[in-house]
Amino acid sequence: MDRVGYRAGMTDGDRPGAQAWVPGRATLPRLRAAVQECRGCELYRDATQGVMGDGDPHADLVLLGEQPGDKEDQAGEPFVGPAGQVLDDALVDAGIAPDGVFKTNVVKHFRWSRTRGKRRIHQSPQQAHVTACRPWLDAELRLLRPAGVVLLGGTAGKALYGSSFKVGECRGRRLSWPADRPVAVPPQWVLATTHPSAVLRARDERQAAYDALVADLRLAAELLG
Ligand code: URA
Ligand code: SF4
Repeated sequence: MDRVGYRAGMTDGDRPGAQAWVPGRATLPRLRAAVQECRGCELYRDATQGVMGDGDPHADLVLLGEQPGDKEDQAGEPFVGPAGQVLDDALVDAGIAPDGVFKTNVVKHFRWSRTRGKRRIHQSPQQAHVTACRPWLDAELRLLRPAGVVLLGGTAGKALYGSSFKVGECRGRRLSWPADRPVAVPPQWVLATTHPSAVLRARDERQAAYDALVADLRLAAELLG
């Protein structure tokens, strides 16, 4: 396939998508190296590096977030910032060892719009970025073959189930892997929950938001058996 990368002046419809950069005989380390070359959309330009998933390569559970944040962009690792800390606390409280899962994102480069002090302010990816980036997630899932996937927040939910997906309507219920998303060994179940950064943003209701996240993750622990 031709490697026709994103060029300045291209419009949304011109994003070629990541497929041409995904190695044919992939391993997780090869994906990590290869994503650094990706020009499937424009997001690579303002990011420090691509961030693939990380964790136990034999994990039964994949946690799927949105995109790397400021800290993850610098570290090259997913969920190492404040939201990742909330997530690990919630996993432990739900009885799931954080080291035993695999954490990744639907978009592999950090999208941000402006800075506040030294911190770059996160901007949610658009559906077009999610679509362009999809081959990287598909490649990870082909290698991991998890039993279950937990969707962290609306962007991950929309990435799998389309733009009408709402976490509030689906959380805490066992969902099926979407039929229009073929993988060799589809996960047996999917659960949606809020993104851990929503816990950080909730002021008065922070404890309630955290407890709800833990309750959803407990359900994941039960499904894992
Ligand atoms: N938020 C995400 O969705 N993913 C990360 O890796 C970090 C924060
Ligand atoms: Fe490639 Fe995804 Fe990065 Fe876009 S966000 S350049 S598709 S890895």
